[in-house]
Order: sequence, then structure tokens, then C-alpha cells
Amino acid sequence: MRNVRNIVHLGSMLMSLMMISQALASPSLDASVEYRAALAAVPDARRGDQIFATCAACHGVDGSGLPDGSVPVIGSQHYPVLLRQLVDYRYAERWDIRMEHVSRLKVLQTPQDLADVAALIASLQPMGPTVHGSGESLTSGVKVYFERCQTCHGATGQGDADRGIARLAGQHPEYLLRQFIDVVEARRPRLSKTHTPLMRELQRAELEGMADYLSRTRRSRGDIAP
Ligand code: HEC
Ligand code: HEC
Repeated sequence: MRNVRNIVHLGSMLMSLMMISQALASPSLDASVEYRAALAAVPDARRGDQIFATCAACHGVDGSGLPDGSVPVIGSQHYPVLLRQLVDYRYAERWDIRMEHVSRLKVLQTPQDLADVAALIASLQPMGPTVHGSGESLTSGVKVYFERCQTCHGATGQGDADRGIARLAGQHPEYLLRQFIDVVEARRPRLSKTHTPLMRELQRAELEGMADYLSRTRRSRGDIAP
């Protein structure tokens, strides 16, 4: 009888050990360990410059992406936000076949590599989008943006480095609209809790209007582009 109880006890201990080791190997835990390690690194923007050659092939030498919105502006994005996105692609916490591949390339292996390239990108001054929306839904977009987003992302979408809030200003409107729809349809896991409730019941025109407004604000300077 005693033996049976011991075996049951041993079995449940093994079960808990297995559960602990599974938890330790969970992608979200690995991702947050790596994110913290990259944040703690002292970045070397010169090394970052070498790594950035790989990125410039798609994002452009000034990090301004493509006007059709297929590749986003990344230049001048806040440093911790860049680290977060790179780590998220790496651990499938953000989904995109191209970036998931890039984030696992040889040039981006260590937290130091992430820090170096992020520091370089944060220092770039991109040209900003050459296109914006049609202007049709701008009024309703601005209204919704100021009601729901402005407290965190700022009046002109500059975000906040200290709080890890993304800069949205001067982003290509088609890219932004795609992110908004991804948020609504729960394809941006990290934004599900905070952003999906804010955007779920918005009309498509309001989403388009917000993207249009943000594409007209100048990146890293507060003013509206001419
Ligand atoms: C093959 C083309 C390609 C290459 C090369 C590439 N990117 Fe990207 N990148 C993209 C695309 C496309 C997206 C948008 C993906 C999405 O919708 O999630 C993106 C998105 C990003 C984002 C998220 C931007 C945001 O606003 O949240 C970051 C950060 C980024 N890339 C950094 C890099 C870095 C750093 C490199 C080089 C090491 C790099 N990219 C190389 C195509 C590329
Ligand atoms: C409570 C603060 C807060 C509010 C309110 C808020 N955001 Fe955010 N937002 C953040 C933070 C923090 C991030 C960076 C999160 C991350 O990627 O880990 C972010 C990221 C984003 C991104 C991703 C940027 C990228 O390129 O990957 C988009 C798009 C976005 N927010 C749009 C909006 C819109 C539109 C609204 C209003 C409907 C809004 N946010 C309201 C805090 C906020």
C-alpha cells in the first residue's frame, strides 16, 4: 500500500517537473528573456550599420520602406519598440513570413546583434511616406484617433520611447490599415488585450481615416507634413 502511494507521489512529482520544464521552454518566456537581454546590452551602432545592409534591401537605406505599404517605415522608430518587434518575429509572437525568416538570419543571432541594429535604425531619419490616404475619412479618423489613441501614442503619433509606445507618425497608410485590420482580427497577439477592444467595433472608414491622418504627420517632429 505504502509503495503504491509512493509511486503515485513520484508520478505526480514527475508530472509537475515536466510542466515546469515545459513552461521554461515556452516561446513567450524565451522571448521575454531575450528582450530583456537585448535591452540590457550596450548597443554599437557601427556594428548595427553592417547588419543593416541586409535590412536596407527591403526597407531602404534610410529605413523608409515602400510607398505601397508592403514594407513599413522603420527609421526613427523607438529603440525598445524595434527590439520588441524583432524578438516577437523570432518567437512567432508576431507573424510575417519574411520577417520571421530575417529575424533568424545569421547576422541576427544574439541579443547584442538585435541591440546594435535597433540602435542604428532608431537613429535614421527617413523621408516619410510620399503617399497618404484619399482624405475622404480624415475627419472621422482624426476624431476617433484623438478619442482612443492619443493619450498613449501622442497627438501626432510620435509614441514614447520610455513607455515602449510605437511611433506611428509618417507611416505608410496601407501598412497601417493592414495592422489595424490584423489587430481587429486578432492576428497581432501582443496587441490583442490592449488594442483589439479599442478597435473592434470601429467602421472601416474610421480605420482608413486614422491611417490617413497618421500618414500625414511627420515622423519624429510634431508637425503635419505639407
Ligand atoms: C525581404 C524583405 C525584408 C527584409 C530583408 C527585412 N525586412 Fe523588416 N519588414 C519587412 C516587411 C514586409 C515587414 C512588415 C511585416 C508585417 O506586416 O508584419 C517588415 C517589418 C519590420 C519591422 C516591424 C515594423 C513595425 O512598424 O512594427 C521591423 C522592426 C523590421 N522589419 C526590421 C528589420 C530589420 C532589422 C531587418 C534586417 C535585419 C529587416 N527588417 C529586413 C520586410 C523585410
Ligand atoms: C494604453 C496605451 C495605448 C493606447 C490607448 C493605444 N496604444 Fe497602440 N500601442 C501601445 C503600445 C505600448 C504599443 C507597442 C506594443 C508592442 O508592440 O509591444 C502600441 C503599438 C501599436 C501599433 C503597432 C505598431 C507597429 O508598427 O507594430 C499600432 C498599429 C497601434 N498601437 C495603434 C493604435 C491605435 C490605432 C490606437 C487607438 C485606437 C492605439 N494604438 C491605442 C499603446 C497604446
